[in-house]
Amino acid sequence: MTKTIRLRTPVPGPKSRALMQRRNDAVVRGVYHATPVFAANAEGAIVEDVDGNRFLDFAGGIGCNNVGHRSEQVLRRVRAQLGRYMHTCFSVAPYEPYVALAERLNQLVPGHFPKKTFLCNTGAEAVENAVKIARAYTKRPAVICFDDAFHGRTLMALALTSKTHPYKAGFQPFPSDVYRMPYAYCYRCAYGKEYPSCQVACADALESVFKRVVAAESVAAVIIEPVLGEGGFITPPRDFFPRLAALCKKHGILLVADEVQTGIARTGTLFAVEQLGVEPDMVLAAKSIGGGLPLASVTGRAEIMDAPGVGGLGGTFGGNPVACEAALAVLEAVEEEDLCRRAVALGKQFVARAQSWQKRWPGIGAIHGMGAMRSLEMVRDAKTRQPDDAAVAAISKYCYEHGLLTISAGTYGNVLRLLMPLVITDAQFEEGLGVLEAALAATCVSGAKMPRVVHA
Ligand SMILES: Cc1ncc(COP(=O)(O)O)c(C=O)c1O
Repeated sequence: MTKTIRLRTPVPGPKSRALMQRRNDAVVRGVYHATPVFAANAEGAIVEDVDGNRFLDFAGGIGCNNVGHRSEQVLRRVRAQLGRYMHTCFSVAPYEPYVALAERLNQLVPGHFPKKTFLCNTGAEAVENAVKIARAYTKRPAVICFDDAFHGRTLMALALTSKTHPYKAGFQPFPSDVYRMPYAYCYRCAYGKEYPSCQVACADALESVFKRVVAAESVAAVIIEPVLGEGGFITPPRDFFPRLAALCKKHGILLVADEVQTGIARTGTLFAVEQLGVEPDMVLAAKSIGGGLPLASVTGRAEIMDAPGVGGLGGTFGGNPVACEAALAVLEAVEEEDLCRRAVALGKQFVARAQSWQKRWPGIGAIHGMGAMRSLEMVRDAKTRQPDDAAVAAISKYCYEHGLLTISAGTYGNVLRLLMPLVITDAQFEEGLGVLEAALAATCVSGAKMPRVVHA
């Protein structure tokens, strides 16, 4: 079988190293890199660097390449749009691709009610606008979010984000009226309970928040990721979302699903909430919807979405026509290539393999996720569950040195997550899993750990 991974130089190669030097001189240090390899080309599930090394991509640009790098459908529509016009601003001279994408999302986003869509550029911007819309509609100020959540880096989104270092520390003050409660993270239950005997007390805890923290009638929205993204691909038990949705409804609070990372077939359905038995008032998408171009959407109940007045929503580049055409192609590709089914198959394959790894290496404390959104949570000891971020750093380093791009996650940085393009071939996926297995073998020995070299 021909291998995809091809390493011509030890990585990072000389050209990558030279570029990193230029990058260090010219670019702010605040932007982090998961790997020190500089991209030159990408196709499908493959990234080639400037030194001619070929990597398998299990990171997908942090979940932005579900339909693959440079998908044929996306390129076709983008090229055609480039030949027409690239920017007029939807607020100056509107255009059809924006309208067509809104129509398509209104059909595809779950919810048996009339919907409308607003388009913007990034996940954080979608979050900001969802909060604005929720406040305009409910005329209430507060927003409830969750421990271990990630909603972006702009100031309101950052206020809703959980992790302090490196995201929040030093960037205060944040906007007010943001309240946080524990997520349904069963492996590390904040209430020390076990599922199912807990009876999903973490959802009912919302009632306690209304008594002790913020009055229900002051709350505009509860914003939540169906599966925690940066938080480590934590998936709540089945009954959590319906319970939460019922409590929101009871108190006239809007439920906002942040599907920036879970959306566009990643979890086995176009949107993860399709599997959770709820119809949120607003659903946010970004990342993979743009097929590699910056695009984000807020889709929700029409009467809620129309609450802000004319001119209250917008942005110079929001819903750029080239990005809208790319998104229309992405949605076609998901359907034509049956990528939801593919996500389920990839997830099953990974879980089977990961369960066998778990038997060999108890340092794999938990296998998390849904569909092809999968992760390994590494611990120092299976009993104490003490997070092992050094293991994840060592595994990631081994992986990229052997031709596999991966990224970490988790509040403790102890989770290795998989976000490979869903168009990855079976042979490529097996090849990548082989590298990951070798990385685990080199890093964990029957629960005792070898000395590790961590990223410099
Ligand atoms: C769930 C979620 N929401 C929002 C964001 C922010 O998206 P962006 O980086 O496009 O602003 C992210 C990014 O990782 C995310 O995972």
